[in-house]
Amino acid sequence: MTPPTRRPPAPETLALLEARRSVAAAGLAAPGPDADQARRLLAIAARVPDHAMLAPWRFIVIEGAARSEIGARLSEAYRAANPEMVPEKREKFAAIMGRLFPAPLALVVVSRPVVGATIPAFEQELSAGAVCMNLLTGAAAMGFDAIWVTGWAATHKAALAILGVSEGERVAGILHIGTATDAPADRPRPDVAALTTHWSPPG
Ligand SMILES: Cc1cc2nc3c(=O)[nH]c(=O)nc-3n(C[C@H](O)[C@H](O)[C@H](O)COP(=O)(O)O)c2cc1C
Repeated sequence: MTPPTRRPPAPETLALLEARRSVAAAGLAAPGPDADQARRLLAIAARVPDHAMLAPWRFIVIEGAARSEIGARLSEAYRAANPEMVPEKREKFAAIMGRLFPAPLALVVVSRPVVGATIPAFEQELSAGAVCMNLLTGAAAMGFDAIWVTGWAATHKAALAILGVSEGERVAGILHIGTATDAPADRPRPDVAALTTHWSPPG
């Protein structure tokens, strides 16, 4: 019997995983992925563990002129949804909604668990999370910066209608992808040892 062939180590991938960090959407500018890179990213995104192959997620691409168009609609929807809010505060947040897509490319990952499937909805939602993570890693491997966000635009009913997210679907993440305008700082990372135990028999 021939011995199994070991997959060659990929130190560059390890270094990328060890150093990847997010960049706030406001700090993401052109260049972003071109059409081929965007297609490749989506293929990478879909290459995630998916119990029973349900593909319980889908994508919405927001790019080019659609970014300001959707921003204007979200801004208006935010005002309409918050009539009681102090006007200055409402305008501040409405303006943020208007500029919500500063990066050249945004990919919305929509989680859509299959109802009645034998696979629990939780597992299907985890698969949508894996899709988001693959997008972050894939973008980093292409030399781009990115961030995974949610917030009002990903959760409020009016915003979901604008995005085109239906009943029974939820936004797992909005992935903003581009190039950092400033050298991004890292954040403190968790103490992995403090979060890790080794199982031993109880008693
Ligand atoms: C499901 C999910 C939703 C998030 N939503 C937001 C958000 O709306 N706004 C935000 O600033 N960060 C949000 N974050 C956090 C950022 O994606 C990111 O974790 C944080 O900026 C630190 O980045 P890094 O650990 O990738 O470097 C979210 C993270 C997850 C997993």
